[in-house]
Amino acid sequence: MLNKTEDKIKHVAIIMDGNGRWAKEHGKDRKYGHRAGAQNLIDISETCIKNNIDYLTVYAFSTENWNRPEDEKKSLFTLLEEFYKKEIKRLIKNNIKICHIGDISKFPERTYNIIKKTEEETRQYLEGKDIKLTITIALNYGSRDELSRSIKNICLDFDKGIITTDDIDENLILRYLDTNDIPEPDLLIRTSGEYRLSNFLLYQIAYTELYFTDIYWPDFSEEEFIKAIENYKKRKRRFGG
Ligand code: FPP
Repeated sequence: MLNKTEDKIKHVAIIMDGNGRWAKEHGKDRKYGHRAGAQNLIDISETCIKNNIDYLTVYAFSTENWNRPEDEKKSLFTLLEEFYKKEIKRLIKNNIKICHIGDISKFPERTYNIIKKTEEETRQYLEGKDIKLTITIALNYGSRDELSRSIKNICLDFDKGIITTDDIDENLILRYLDTNDIPEPDLLIRTSGEYRLSNFLLYQIAYTELYFTDIYWPDFSEEEFIKAIENYKKRKRRFGG
């Protein structure tokens, strides 16, 4: 299969990296960098809508981020709570759907409750409405953890007789992943000059185009986003064919 370069980009995934270094360059603490990063997520979601992109998936807190200092984790959870209480309401009103991947049950109770409440409000408010963009926020997410959880669920369904070994194929595995109701990403962007995937969507990006930029996430503007899209459009996707 060969996708024509002018084909629509349905799904962009982003590893939003470089908040800490951006803050340091501005003589501020890391918390300030994460705050600027959260604001940039709002701006980039508007850019996605302008560019007719249906899905945006972002890496906000990885399973490895638990190794960060306590005060940084605390400030990230506070930021998440504020973000959910204020900004997400505004996004929902603009017909943007918010979903999650990852195991949020490990988050502090208050953060967990706010996220769950928002998810429910999103579902109710957007029922029957035209969705402009679906933002999936990866929280306590890691591909290896996701795959372990999905294998566990496959085994449970096997035990219950819901599936047989003959049912197990690539598509069944996709259905058991956290991303089961969103298409695979067309383009994965990582900011801040790191050339790694850091345990993000490893199964889902088998044929995704990768784009790396030195720009720190808070500076990854609409202009930079367009550059990534233009670069993607020049590529020929062969999907191994
Ligand atoms: C990487 O920067 C970023 C993160 C670990 C968290 C991403 C979080 C945000 C963009 C803000 C919060 C998000 C939401 C959804 C409210 P880093 O700290 O690793 O930066 P560094 O590599 O320069 O140290």
